[in-house]
Amino acid sequence: MTTDNIFDVRNVTLRFGGVVSLSDVSLHHQRGEILAVIGPNGAGKTSLFNSLTGVYQPQEGVITFTGRDVTPISIIGRKAHRVSSAGVARTFQASRMFSALTTFENVKIGAESHKGIGAFGAMVKGPRTRRGERESDLKTIELLNFVGLRDKANTVSASLSYGDRRRLEIARGLATNPQVLLLDEPAAGTNPAEKIQLTELIRKVRDEMGVSILLIEHDMKLVMSLAERLYVLNFGSVIAEGTPAEIRANTSVVEAYLGSSEHEPEGLM
Ligand SMILES: Nc1ncnc2c1ncn2[C@@H]1O[C@H](COP(=O)(O)OP(=O)(O)O)[C@@H](O)[C@H]1O
Ligand SMILES: [Mg+2]
Repeated sequence: MTTDNIFDVRNVTLRFGGVVSLSDVSLHHQRGEILAVIGPNGAGKTSLFNSLTGVYQPQEGVITFTGRDVTPISIIGRKAHRVSSAGVARTFQASRMFSALTTFENVKIGAESHKGIGAFGAMVKGPRTRRGERESDLKTIELLNFVGLRDKANTVSASLSYGDRRRLEIARGLATNPQVLLLDEPAAGTNPAEKIQLTELIRKVRDEMGVSILLIEHDMKLVMSLAERLYVLNFGSVIAEGTPAEIRANTSVVEAYLGSSEHEPEGLM
């Protein structure tokens, strides 16, 4: 069987005690695609990301990841750091960078942890780590240029704006040379100008680096302008799939959002 899917998710169910976070979810992510997952709070979006990255272990179903020129691997049962070294990078809904370190140091740790040196080794600098150090420095500078943070390389991360923190997280994800980048609400907390810049950056990651993008995002304007295709989750189930135009015209999607008091369906229609 030939496939050009980077992720293939078949009949995945994830439970926590009596709570069903994902219920018989099937979806696919084509290589090179900017794909989005939307849905109200508690729909299972982050659970899906955690299942795709080896953080959660669904009780049922199959998740296959196929990197370029390699044998497909099964994600379920594989540890998160193994999934990461296979080529799956992510950013988190809540920021996880080292806020006392500079922008440069945060990206460099990403680059070195990927080479198996680890955050500690990266800071302590034993003889083995020094060898790869210049390489990591160059890669870090290149990534900071790419995301537009070169002039803030020596700024302590805690003092960056929300938009710049989001760029930094993307640079950290890219430092591991991923084939796919999973972004959990990358525009949360950013202002309208920053949202436009983030949209452009995410598109550039795909266009110039060839990295597939999987995106969770609440801002409908952003997600509809960026995603080429979307899945809609509601109560752990996929309720719709399609292009932005198809999703906008789907009545069950509109109902899922209208039925949720926590979300304005603004931008959906
Ligand atoms: N580690 C966990 N333990 C127990 N329940 C969880 C856990 N992670 C997620 N859930 C539950 O799974 C459901 C979906 O949550 P989540 O995936 O965070 O939704 P979303 O990201 O769409 O807001 C919620 O009911 C949530 O409480
Ligand atoms: Mg979430």
